[in-house]
Amino acid sequence: MRTSGEGCTFHTYISGHFNNPYPRAAMSEKAQIILNGKTYEFPVVTGSEGEKAIDIGKLRDETGYITLDFGYKNTGATTSAITFLDGEEGILHYRGYPIEQLAEKASFIEVAYLLLFGELPNKKQLEEFEGNIRYHSLVHEDMKRFFEHFPSNAHPMGILSAMVNSLSTFYPKSQDPHRPQALVLRTIYRLIAKMPTLAAISYKNNLGHPYMYPVNKLGYVENFLHMMFALPTEEYEVDPVVADALNKLLILHADHEQNCSTSTVRIVGSSQANLYSAVSAGIAALWGPLHGGANQEVIEMLETIRNDGGDIQKWVDKAKDKNDPFRLFGFGHRVYKNFDPRAKIMQKTCHEVLGELGITDEPLLDLAMALERIALEDDYFVSRKLYPNVDFYSGIILKAMGIPTSMFTVIFAVARTVGWVSQWKEMVEDPSQRIGRPRQIYTGPSQRDYVDVARRG
Ligand code: CMC
Repeated sequence: MRTSGEGCTFHTYISGHFNNPYPRAAMSEKAQIILNGKTYEFPVVTGSEGEKAIDIGKLRDETGYITLDFGYKNTGATTSAITFLDGEEGILHYRGYPIEQLAEKASFIEVAYLLLFGELPNKKQLEEFEGNIRYHSLVHEDMKRFFEHFPSNAHPMGILSAMVNSLSTFYPKSQDPHRPQALVLRTIYRLIAKMPTLAAISYKNNLGHPYMYPVNKLGYVENFLHMMFALPTEEYEVDPVVADALNKLLILHADHEQNCSTSTVRIVGSSQANLYSAVSAGIAALWGPLHGGANQEVIEMLETIRNDGGDIQKWVDKAKDKNDPFRLFGFGHRVYKNFDPRAKIMQKTCHEVLGELGITDEPLLDLAMALERIALEDDYFVSRKLYPNVDFYSGIILKAMGIPTSMFTVIFAVARTVGWVSQWKEMVEDPSQRIGRPRQIYTGPSQRDYVDVARRG
């Protein structure tokens, strides 16, 4: 491969083997960068699925230059053995297992184990893991006092992020990420266990309904639904169709390698801040409408289009107009440039769930399908490789399940927690990791002298 720019030529070639600091990443190639006539060599790292990176770890030491990459479009921040995705081919694997198989056959809690420990659990390991999660599902009673003081219309994502951070004050000993492994695992179990409880309380708080305690004889997903929808006054039976759909949805959202919120968790964790605070920051990142918050935006967008008379072309044109800030939510992805495999499963699940719940008329689904059709035929979307992403259909499923729009991103956060803690665990166990600290190219004024306020013009 060969590229060149002013004063700089760059090419890669194959050379002999040398010490490989990257587990399961081959380094038989080298890249050369020529800067102002001088040649520098850097190792090329090849992942287990053949993807390649130039290790520029010594670039600044050797050349005085840094790289500049807005939005980290070309920057690998780590090696990782957890999730593989190929955006060109529309492939997503967790620990080598295709997402399609996991969504079809696995339970969310099995997937959580897989992401954390690298292998699917046997029966005994699964029972033990479920037991550990169940054990920690209650939250401290003092937490209720916090919940009571949020405004009644507070967004549940704001509440969730604050409450997860507050867990660090309840478990002060968990501040040290380098404690013995059993203690670190306990923090991880606490987070996975308490997340649905906190999410459900955030929702109940919003409604002004009494909080429901976890019922530990129920499975993880069923328990979550129970805490969300049961009332102390009447019996509540979890609908298996809804539980199945939620299980699938949680699996699809569980991990997605170095996305915005996961990178946030890793960078906060890299300062050795405690895991609760790192995950709280991840929740804040996920809330943004360009990331997990898009699932709420999609439904609100579809409702706006419907209320505006249903003229889809008008909204597609608005999305294409560079002078209009409007974007089609649920479309486009930084990595997927073919299709988002999660969106395919989500679209199928959406039809199944509506069918099984006997919902024959869902105008938002009709609108979504029409919008998808029009956008996928439009040259603007085709040429930019903008396809429906995971969030395009998930909101319709969640709506059919009776979950209010403000809770959509919270459900995403419950799912992604297992990805965040797995990625954090991988990071703290990796001796080569350093504090995350990007550099910059300064573009402000050069040095100048202070002028007394009386003498300033
Ligand atoms: N509607 C209209 N135009 C779009 C859209 C969209 N949804 N997405 C991208 N574009 C255009 C963008 O204007 C740009 O055009 P041009 O080349 O003429 O300047 C081009 O496509 C490339 O977009 P970009 O913003 O440079 O791409 P990115 O990789 O930085 O952004 C994205 C990815 C997901 C933030 C973006 O596609 C987007 O804003 N989508 C809508 C929000 C959304 O659905 N987010 C959920 C992502 S999936 C869930 C998750 O994992 O977070």
